[in-house]
Amino acid sequence: MKIAYTIMVLAAAFVARAEINVVPYPSSVVEKPGVFKCPAGKELRKVVKLSKDASIPHEGYRLSVTANGINVAASDKAGAFYALKTLEQLKDATSASLPCCEIEDAPRYSWRGLHLDESRHFFGKDAVKATLDQMARFKLNRFHWHLTDDQGWRIDVPGHPELIEYGSWRPYSPKRPPEGGECNKKKQVSDGKKYGPFFYMEADIKEVIAYAKERHIEVLPEIEFPGHFRAALAAYPAYACFPERIKSRCGRGTWGIEPEVMCAGNDEAIKFVEEVLDYVCKLFPFECVHIGGDECPKGRWKECSKCQARIKAEGLKDEHALQAWLTRHMVEFLAKRGKRTIGWAEYLGAGVPAEAMGMVWMGQNVPRVVSRGASEGHDMIVTPSPFCYLNHSQELKDDPYPYGGGGRTLEKCYSFDPCHGVTGDAVKHVIGGQGCQWTEYSWDQKDLEWKYWPRMMALSEVFWMGEKKPGLDDFKRRATVQREALIKDGVNAAPLP
Ligand code: ACM
Ligand code: ZN
Repeated sequence: MKIAYTIMVLAAAFVARAEINVVPYPSSVVEKPGVFKCPAGKELRKVVKLSKDASIPHEGYRLSVTANGINVAASDKAGAFYALKTLEQLKDATSASLPCCEIEDAPRYSWRGLHLDESRHFFGKDAVKATLDQMARFKLNRFHWHLTDDQGWRIDVPGHPELIEYGSWRPYSPKRPPEGGECNKKKQVSDGKKYGPFFYMEADIKEVIAYAKERHIEVLPEIEFPGHFRAALAAYPAYACFPERIKSRCGRGTWGIEPEVMCAGNDEAIKFVEEVLDYVCKLFPFECVHIGGDECPKGRWKECSKCQARIKAEGLKDEHALQAWLTRHMVEFLAKRGKRTIGWAEYLGAGVPAEAMGMVWMGQNVPRVVSRGASEGHDMIVTPSPFCYLNHSQELKDDPYPYGGGGRTLEKCYSFDPCHGVTGDAVKHVIGGQGCQWTEYSWDQKDLEWKYWPRMMALSEVFWMGEKKPGLDDFKRRATVQREALIKDGVNAAPLP
């Protein structure tokens, strides 16, 4: 009798456990017997009794589901919003019932990011809004919007109509490989089709920012310089070291790193970037602005008399020091406008002030790069390519979508630890991570969704739970349920391996 009872209790506990299919998994869950039946046709948020509790951390919440009702406590609106997101995931789609439980929850990291490159391909406002909806489901809170690069300039800047006229289109793109085919990065064949003009106007951007705000997501704009600047040079060849080498007045039609960069010795070029940043500071309410800073070839600066004159006048050692000088200048410019600068991590270590933030993307020496930046007082966002670059293959069998490389399985994403190898006080400066979507090999919203999900679910659990994440098998069970929910809502999520 006792044995039968024990088996019954264990079975009940197992069933209840299997119903807490939340991604990311909450910090603490106590399952209770029974269910709450949501009244037919009533929205969850209208059922919830909400109270304020100032002792609960920012973005955190306490949640109690009993057969009689649902209580939520939070110290801020974001916490209450995330409680609702948990409840939406708990609600059974067919029976509209929720398992009884007590949950206490708060994120491990404050930066839980998702990045989208709209220069290589442009997806538009509706795709961005759909992405923001998907982010909110999984408690992601930073949308990194890569708006400019060699292949296209995507933001209208009042007073600079040339950016759109020349920079927002290209005469051709590399040909799309056949279904499921390999991308050959070395031999790019033109598709012969004009791409663009594609760009956002101020009203579009304001609409996206407002939509994100309703979902407790901050929008981080990225304006790239001094490298990845070819689309701007199409508009203003005079801001290149050698204007006569800017032969085509349009975005670059092939993928890869462009040798023509911004001339750091030209005061007019600097004034232009300041004008763009000034506008961006006013348009985007988020306290951070991303200024790129990665992959700037120094060949032109070595040959350029203006760049060399700047190096001499400022007493700089070489072209790398010239980039550091330009970065410091712009970080100070942004600070005067109340903004914190973010740049790809190679811009650190050059006298950039501590309040500037670093975004680590390269796969080499990640703990060393993160630790060095953090120990100098920079807040660090960790998004190393081997774990977080979703433009690389998820290694599914018969995957119809092309990628720019391999090895980013769901398991690999789940194994990511932003603080890996970081010790002592430096840990406090590791503020989170993000998944990056570079789009040379992505053409439309369906393609994006396939590449984001379910891998961004894995990263959302890494960013929300940190070291406490329950493990891959447990995650896969819950992610299978949440993937079905995405599919039901029309999202083209990839299958789990
Ligand atoms: C990068 O992937 N070049 C930041
Ligand atoms: Zn120059």
